[in-house]
Amino acid sequence: HADFNQKIDYVFKVVLIGDSAVGKSQLLARNEFSLDSKATIGVEFQTKTFVIDHKTIKTQIWDTAGQEKSSLSLSEHHMAFPSLSQYGIRRYRAVTSAYYRGAVGAILVYDMTKPQTFEHVARWLEELRVRTDKNIVIMLVGNKSDLGSLRAVAVEDAKEFAQKENLFFMETSALEATNVETAFLTVITEIY
Ligand code: GTP
Ligand code: MG
Repeated sequence: HADFNQKIDYVFKVVLIGDSAVGKSQLLARNEFSLDSKATIGVEFQTKTFVIDHKTIKTQIWDTAGQEKSSLSLSEHHMAFPSLSQYGIRRYRAVTSAYYRGAVGAILVYDMTKPQTFEHVARWLEELRVRTDKNIVIMLVGNKSDLGSLRAVAVEDAKEFAQKENLFFMETSALEATNVETAFLTVITEIY
């Protein structure tokens, strides 16, 4: 646990991406899981501290709305991006590049009960590859593994995709806290 005077050896930035409602914010929520988690507006941060090999690694995890599929109402959308209508796509691009800037790790999340969110993974990956360093560590995460009976994405398909694209892969449940820490820790360890 974090000592007040602890020396920070490294600071890493990790971004969470993926369609809306796949569970990005809940994967990041520390203790309390929320069933009526609100769609993220703008950008949120969390820091998590890991100790690996006696080195203290502070990780800044960035979380934003899975915009494209976002269910935000128009008024909320204007709140998040006040100049959106004025500057059109450029404003969105500016927000996007700031989001990815300096990221050394990414957690790309889909919902294993929603095939569409898995189909969109390729697009998210493309955006990631365009906007980040080629050495970025990427973890593909199939979230909501607690909903086993509603599974709509085969684990083999996800594994195969991950292998082909050189990504780490894990199925998680934010609800049951299954593999959540392991997913973050794997990314951090690999960056380190
Ligand atoms: P945006 O902010 O809109 O991009 O969505 P998000 O990806 O942050 O999704 P969020 O974390 O807000 O979760 C969306 C919904 O899925 C909420 O109702 C959560 O309670 C639910 N949810 C998230 N993770 C899990 C999970 O592991 N299991 C189950 N059963 N539900 C989950
Ligand atoms: Mg969110």
